[in-house]
Amino acid sequence: MINEKPGLMPVLPVEAYTSQAWFDQEQSAIFSKAWTFVGFPEDLPDTGDHVTVQAGLYCLIVIRGDDGTLRAFHNICRHRGARMLRPHGKSASAITCPYHDWTYDFKGNLKGIPDKEKEFPDIDMTCFGLHKASVALWRGMIFVHPEAEPPSIEDWFGPIEKHLGPHRPETMVEVAEMATETEIKANWKFVVENFLDAYHLAHLHSGTLSMYDHANAETGLFGDHFAFYEPLAPEYAEDIEKNAPSPLVDFGTGRMGVYAPMLFPNIGLSETEIAWSTFHVTPVRPDLTIVRTRTKFPNVPQSKYAKAERKSYGFWRNKVRGKYAGNPETDPMSSGNFMAEDVFACEQQQAALSSPFFAVGASADTGEKPVRDYQTVIERWMKAAD
Ligand code: FES
Ligand SMILES: [Fe+2]
Repeated sequence: MINEKPGLMPVLPVEAYTSQAWFDQEQSAIFSKAWTFVGFPEDLPDTGDHVTVQAGLYCLIVIRGDDGTLRAFHNICRHRGARMLRPHGKSASAITCPYHDWTYDFKGNLKGIPDKEKEFPDIDMTCFGLHKASVALWRGMIFVHPEAEPPSIEDWFGPIEKHLGPHRPETMVEVAEMATETEIKANWKFVVENFLDAYHLAHLHSGTLSMYDHANAETGLFGDHFAFYEPLAPEYAEDIEKNAPSPLVDFGTGRMGVYAPMLFPNIGLSETEIAWSTFHVTPVRPDLTIVRTRTKFPNVPQSKYAKAERKSYGFWRNKVRGKYAGNPETDPMSSGNFMAEDVFACEQQQAALSSPFFAVGASADTGEKPVRDYQTVIERWMKAAD
C-alpha cells in the first residue's frame, strides 16, 4: 500500500504521536472506557490486599474483601475527594483516608467519621459510600473498569477468545525475577504497532527470533483485538522435546507455536511453547511509555527445568546473537535481546517525527496490515468521543 499523503501515518496524523491534546483525548476516549489490566489474582491473596490502577481519567482501587471477593472502587474519598490508597498495600480492617481519617469497609460503606457528632451531626452515612467501579477475572488476569455497570468482560474479549493459545495462566507459576519494566522514549502506539508488525520480525530480529517461522505468521483483527500466530521454525520443531530450553507448555491438540495477541487497547500477551507473558503498555506522555512484562512457566518440578536446559544446550549455542557486531553492553542492535531491539526501533521512529521529511511512504500489504487496522480502530474510538 502506497501512502498518498506524505507526512502522514497510514491512517492517523503525526500529531497522534506527539501532541498532548491528542494524548489527553485518548485518556478520556479510550482508556477511560476500556477494561484495564491490573495483574494476577495471586497478587492479592489476603483480605485487605489492594492495588490502585489508573484507568484513563480514573484512579481505581481493587481490594480483596473479608469474604474473599475482589471489589473495585474509585480511589476518591467522599469527604473532600482526596486519593486514599497508594499503589500497593494491605489495609488491616478498613480503607482509611489519610487526610481526616474517614474510614470505609471493604465493601465501600462509610463506617467512621472522626468527631461525627460535633462536626457532622446530620450526615447520612449511607449516602457517602465509595463510588463503585467494576472488577473481573478473565483467563487468569484481573481487569478493572471505571463504570459500575460496564460492558461485560466476556463480551469485551469474546471475539478474540478462540484465537488465543491453549495456555492456562492460572495453573502456571510466575518467575518474579523475570518481570521487566522498561521506559521507552516513544508514543505508546508505536510500541503497540511494533508488537503488531509481522514484517519486522525477520529483519530487526534476524538474530534473536529465528526459532519462529515468520514467513507463516497469521494475523487478524477480531473485535478491536489483534490475533497473531506463527509456527515454530522447522529445525526447532523437528526435535522440540530436545530443543526446548525449558519444559513445554501442554498444547493438547492445538497447534504449537507462538500466539501473541494484543488485547485492545494496550495489553499484549506472548503465549509461547514454553511460557506465557503479559506485555502491558502504559502511556506516560506523548513521547514516553512504560512497558511492564511478567512471565509464567509450567508448574513442573525444578529438575525438569535443569534437564531441559542441559538437553537443549547444543541447539541454542550461538543461536541468539545481535543483528550487528558490536558491544552488546552498549548497543541494543548488538545485544542479542529482542526487547532491546524493539525499544531501539520505537525510539528511532519517534525521534524522526520532528523532521518535515518524516513520512510513512509505504506499508506492507500483509505484514503491516495490523498496524493500519490498529490505527483505524484508534481513529474510530477517538471520533466516537468527538
Ligand atoms: S478528604 Fe478524606 S477524610 Fe477528608
Ligand atoms: Fe519486535
